[in-house]
Amino acid sequence: MQISNQAYQNLSRLIYDKFGIALGNDKQVLVTTRLLPLMQKQGFRSFEEYYNHLSQDKTGKALLALANQITTNYSFFYREGEHFDFLREFALPQKITQPPSLNTPNLHIWSAGCSSGEEAYTLSMVLEDFFQTPTSRWDIGILATDIDTNMLNQASQAIYSEDRLRNIPPMMRMRYFQSISAHQWQIKPEVRNYVHFSRFNLIQPNFSFKSKFFAIFCRNVMIYFDKPRVKKLIQNFYDVTEEQGYLFIGQTESLDKDDCPYEYVAPAIYQKRKLTRTVQKPEIPGSSDKTHLFEMP
Ligand SMILES: C[S@@+](CC[C@H](N)C(=O)[O-])C[C@H]1O[C@@H](n2cnc3c(N)ncnc32)[C@H](O)[C@@H]1O
Repeated sequence: MQISNQAYQNLSRLIYDKFGIALGNDKQVLVTTRLLPLMQKQGFRSFEEYYNHLSQDKTGKALLALANQITTNYSFFYREGEHFDFLREFALPQKITQPPSLNTPNLHIWSAGCSSGEEAYTLSMVLEDFFQTPTSRWDIGILATDIDTNMLNQASQAIYSEDRLRNIPPMMRMRYFQSISAHQWQIKPEVRNYVHFSRFNLIQPNFSFKSKFFAIFCRNVMIYFDKPRVKKLIQNFYDVTEEQGYLFIGQTESLDKDDCPYEYVAPAIYQKRKLTRTVQKPEIPGSSDKTHLFEMP
């Protein structure tokens, strides 16, 4: 089935408006291959008919299915490993040695655009490794969000095939994965327990959370957005980053230096440098359910 110019324009505009994904003028083949199976399953005979259905659907289900189909979800454990090394060797030691008056007892990290969970669980393993034993001082939690509910469901299962584990250092693999069949591995509960998965559209206008994040990982997501959307997203991230906290972006991505509230620290690593001396109200120490940590709009 061919996609007409008009149908492509309509669909790409809708995808941009709803999810921020800027397809440009030449992704007809990608749109066709990704949407055709869904359209055929639902009995649509043309892209025009499918677009009309999307525009008229009031339940939100059609858009949800479109998001699940159109996003690119490639991910693997310990991707762009320098970021996790930086966290373990520099950012975390710096965080825990700050005087309590400058610090909060929260250690919250956000994996924004987490896909099937590899990034969030890698963070969790790094934290587990760093702290070794749980400490009562720190309320640790990782919020992992994506727009794609299929990915979030997969992530919650925490089951991965051998090829996704290729970058994991052997000790971590031994410590935090259990074999469940010939080529499948599941993350152990102590690592899963830090992570809370939720659907979150990064192009929503404002972000509001119960507390700020020490680090935000938004890697290999902004490549799909255009400049105005990236600019707005960075400002939103900045507003929910704690002082001295970090933003990690994909190593093939870059931020406009003159137009970025964060300070550049290292390739694809930025910091919110401001320091204030306000003492924040302590959080209630966490249970294994991390839902209470993140109040979302
Ligand atoms: C290529 S994956 C990156 C996964 C992981 N961060 C990594 O670097 O391995 C990009 C993810 O961004 C998500 N995404 C795209 N647009 C989004 C939006 N508007 N809001 C939230 N997530 C979005 C996709 O669903 C996809 O899972």
